[in-house]
Amino acid sequence: MSSNSQLLLPRSSEAIVIRDEDSSNNVAIEFQNVTKSYKLFKNDRARFMATFSKKVPYKDVCANNDLSFTIRRGEAVAFLGTNGAGKSTALKIITGVAHPTSGKVVVHGRVSALLELSAGFDGQLSGRENIAFRGQLWGLSAEEIAELEPRIIDFAELGDYIDQPMRTYSSGMKSRLGFAFASSIKPDILVVDEALSVGDRRFARKCLDRVHEIMSDSHVTVLFVTHSSTSAKEFCKRGIVLEKGHNIFDADIKDAIAFYEGKM
Ligand SMILES: Nc1ncnc2c1ncn2[C@@H]1O[C@H](COP(=O)(O)OP(=O)(O)OP(=O)(O)O)[C@@H](O)[C@H]1O
Ligand SMILES: [Mg+2]
Repeated sequence: MSSNSQLLLPRSSEAIVIRDEDSSNNVAIEFQNVTKSYKLFKNDRARFMATFSKKVPYKDVCANNDLSFTIRRGEAVAFLGTNGAGKSTALKIITGVAHPTSGKVVVHGRVSALLELSAGFDGQLSGRENIAFRGQLWGLSAEEIAELEPRIIDFAELGDYIDQPMRTYSSGMKSRLGFAFASSIKPDILVVDEALSVGDRRFARKCLDRVHEIMSDSHVTVLFVTHSSTSAKEFCKRGIVLEKGHNIFDADIKDAIAFYEGKM
């Protein structure tokens, strides 16, 4: 573990998550027997009651189940699988939005995520202020933010709205700014979850071109979730097929697609 690595203390007794910005490490991401389970209560009331009592019944749903894989730096990997297979959950664990229940997760490098693009903005702040705020959260200096800002604003094409509070934005406008931000910073690891349909058709094409541009940098590691085999082939060399939270096939993208389509 490098000196600046961060061991996130597990919320459960078993899960271990290690993150650092060591982009020289050959391995970008490693999942070792990762399980993420959610407690499914009968309704919101039962969920609330469960904070006071252990007796409230619930069902365990394993979104990721004993999931293991290793992704080397510079690889472009597609996650394939039917609805509910656990693809987004794996991405959320990688980005830190979700915490595993058990197992070990190692992430070397800065992650930028093209998922839930409109989430996390402050509606009271303008688009421009949100860029600065998000930049600070990313640990960027004021100079770095000042340098990136025009590029982000130019890409998002929000016109005068960039200085209006974000509560006045349409959902497409929020996603545009989310995409513009996430794709303008230089990540070591780029995570894309079906986010390429941002905005209208012209804007979606522009986003696709931007993703291509990022991916043409062979140092960037890419994880891509899609239901489209054409996009998977276009972007990735390797495919991992998930089913019920398990890794059931991991190979060259053509073989992975053939396997996945054969199962449907
Ligand atoms: N917050 C949550 N609470 C309860 N169950 C959840 C939660 N998030 C995901 N799940 C469940 O975990 C399983 C995996 O979900 P996930 O979103 O990872 O699937 P996915 O492969 O991304 O599916 P899709 O192709 O539909 O996007 C599903 O059964 C889902 O219902
Ligand atoms: Mg999903």
